[in-house]
Amino acid sequence: MNIKLTAQLPKTHTQKILKKEAKDKDSSCLVVLVDNNKNILASDSLTEYQERIEQLMAVSHFSGKACETVADYALAGDKKTTKANPLQLLIVGVGAIDKLNHSALQKIAKTIYQSTQKRVASLTIALGDALQENEFSQFALNLLAATYRFDKYKSEQTTPVLTDIYLLADNSLQSALDFAQSVFVGQSLTRDVANEPGNICFPAYMAEQAQELGKKYSDILKVTVLGEEEMSALGMECFLAVSRGSVREGKLVIMEYQGKSKFTANHSASYRDNASSAAKAGLKAIADKLPLKANTKKGSNSDAPIVLVGKGVTFDSGGISIKPGAAMDEMKFDMGGSASVLGTIQALCEARLPINVVGALACAENMPSGEATRPGDIVKAMNGKSVEILNTDAEGRLVLADTLCYIQRYNPKAIIDVATLTGACVVALGHVRSAVFSNDEDVLFELENASAQSGDLIWHMPLDDEYQSLLDSPIADMQNIGGKGAGAVTAACFLSRFVEEDQAWAHLDIAGTAWNSGKEKAATGRPVPLFMQYLKNSVDMA
Ligand code: BES
Ligand code: MN
Ligand code: ZN
Repeated sequence: MNIKLTAQLPKTHTQKILKKEAKDKDSSCLVVLVDNNKNILASDSLTEYQERIEQLMAVSHFSGKACETVADYALAGDKKTTKANPLQLLIVGVGAIDKLNHSALQKIAKTIYQSTQKRVASLTIALGDALQENEFSQFALNLLAATYRFDKYKSEQTTPVLTDIYLLADNSLQSALDFAQSVFVGQSLTRDVANEPGNICFPAYMAEQAQELGKKYSDILKVTVLGEEEMSALGMECFLAVSRGSVREGKLVIMEYQGKSKFTANHSASYRDNASSAAKAGLKAIADKLPLKANTKKGSNSDAPIVLVGKGVTFDSGGISIKPGAAMDEMKFDMGGSASVLGTIQALCEARLPINVVGALACAENMPSGEATRPGDIVKAMNGKSVEILNTDAEGRLVLADTLCYIQRYNPKAIIDVATLTGACVVALGHVRSAVFSNDEDVLFELENASAQSGDLIWHMPLDDEYQSLLDSPIADMQNIGGKGAGAVTAACFLSRFVEEDQAWAHLDIAGTAWNSGKEKAATGRPVPLFMQYLKNSVDMA
């Protein structure tokens, strides 16, 4: 889909609409937005059509409520657009102009796309100055997102007729449009990989996707993949406990986006003083593969990266603590966190934001087998803490725990992990807002800001110390599940134990927002818009 800003209505519109002589192939449609007071948006540019628009609204008793539509042929009393009488003018209601929030913008964009995509080749949407920059960006992204399809497994694909969208609005919005396009590219990759079934998308597939990006954007992106041997040398027993039952090898994928400058990782930072000499040799081999040199204070260096960590469980059967059968297929989406990190890194490469970001994808498949982890097994994380695995279905926190330990060698400015972590989060917040937990007021504030600006919504949840004791184990440093209540909170508490005291960190639980269920079953691409807004704001602040 081509989407462009335009300063005036194309000449062809004037001719075609007034003369009604559009031909099917190059047919174009003018989209006029009207609020619930029947004010025509961008009316200054539409004086030629005003009479016609008003006539049309009158005969159709158009009220201007959000997503109400009326097409030009209503005047003629036709029910259908035909080749002889193609769609030329579409009036779309936007409701109360001061209530144009993210969900209204999304619905309006979707309505416009769906009511035109099979009928005309191009659209001009008359926006004028009706939308603020943020709203405009959201609207453009929503229009683009409405064009997304995942039909590669259908024998027949439908191609839309619509190929070009022109937004009649001020030139100053060009950068907002460019940004929306970058976000769309990344978000589409997120949706693509998350929509792939588990027999195609397994840890090595995720690694390949990342490596492809590494090739495509080789000037600013470096990708490294750690396999199970290397993870074992690092002492990542929690991670390996998850991938153990699967024939698919677990992968820890590290993506270094260097938009600001080259930065370094501190590979001498090893938590395990009890590591074997073989493990130490392994550590050195890994250190040799990656850039060296220690930064000193945490995040103090202005080149220090923001680190995004994604849960990448490519299929979550539950393991030995196997899940019930109903909707288990949806656990192919359990890599949605890492898919969103992958997509965010691509969006960054497209937008070329001048910042440093590391993406870490913690990829494993959680399966039952004779070699799988048993409930009751005790393993040690990379930071030396022991974990009693009471439920093998609480696996996301295990792969994240070791990954969080690992990425702290970057001395990050901030760490944000993102995971389809708990069913309890879906109970708490449903499918509207993702949960956010944080140990740092500034990171939390910035995430909440980005949430409001992007419309990719989050909700702040608690991390009080009082919840921590629910993870006490009689035999190990902790157990991997809490009690009956506060499941999303205890999962976050578990993660917090692998983040150093003074390290700014936030955790997003996207269990309810990463995909839609039922007939609409598909990945949403969230929270790529949130991440990109957050990262963009971090540039503006620097
Ligand atoms: N991937 C699931 C969480 C999930 C469930 C996300 C349903 C979206 C929809 C996670 O690995 C899991 O199984 N969590 C358990 C934790 C429990 C065993 C403490 C859960 O939420 O039931
Ligand atoms: Mn699980
Ligand atoms: Zn899971």
